[in-house]
Amino acid sequence: MNRFLIVYHSKYGSTKRYAEWLAGHLEADLCTGRQLKTVNLSQYDAVLYGGSVFAGTISGFGKFLKQADSLPDLPLIVFAVGASPVNDETAQAVRSANLKDRDVPFFYLRGALDLASAGLFDRSILRMIGKSIRKKAPETRSEWDQTLLRCTAGEAADWTRPEAVVPIVECALAL
Ligand SMILES: Cc1cc2nc3c(=O)[nH]c(=O)nc-3n(C[C@H](O)[C@H](O)[C@H](O)COP(=O)(O)O)c2cc1C
Repeated sequence: MNRFLIVYHSKYGSTKRYAEWLAGHLEADLCTGRQLKTVNLSQYDAVLYGGSVFAGTISGFGKFLKQADSLPDLPLIVFAVGASPVNDETAQAVRSANLKDRDVPFFYLRGALDLASAGLFDRSILRMIGKSIRKKAPETRSEWDQTLLRCTAGEAADWTRPEAVVPIVECALAL
């Protein structure tokens, strides 16, 4: 089997959970974006990068690319973890905003959202978003709007599921 490295960036733990599930399936090594500078990438056959989505951006991905670009031939799979519902539109939007025209396999997974465990800054941003959604007419609110409203009202949500990593595992094993 190929030797895999999974690099992840997770603020509240859901991306870490997915990275650990993937590591279990692929017998992969795991490291955070910060630990990456101590890792010799050339010992791996492929790298998987996973980052949480904040304001549309895959966290740590820009930094990771600078390091991974020194090994341009290393196969790469990217997964992003956000609270928006999983659908083609979301996946495409996150992909094109972050990967631009980079032609690598990309997966979007759903994480978790819990206002109570969020930091002060993140909490105030979520509250502001909730406020702006409440200004919209209820019939114009999207599914994501409704989710955010519930979460900003204090309802914790956790959509992480171990089986969601199966397509990523299949993709990695087919490299
Ligand atoms: C301030 C803030 C901004 C966020 N922005 C987005 C976003 O643009 N799109 C999205 O899908 N989820 C967004 N989220 C939800 C996070 O991506 C979600 O909580 C994710 O599970 C976090 O991953 P982590 O637990 O690995 O840190 C946001 C959350 C916070 C607190």
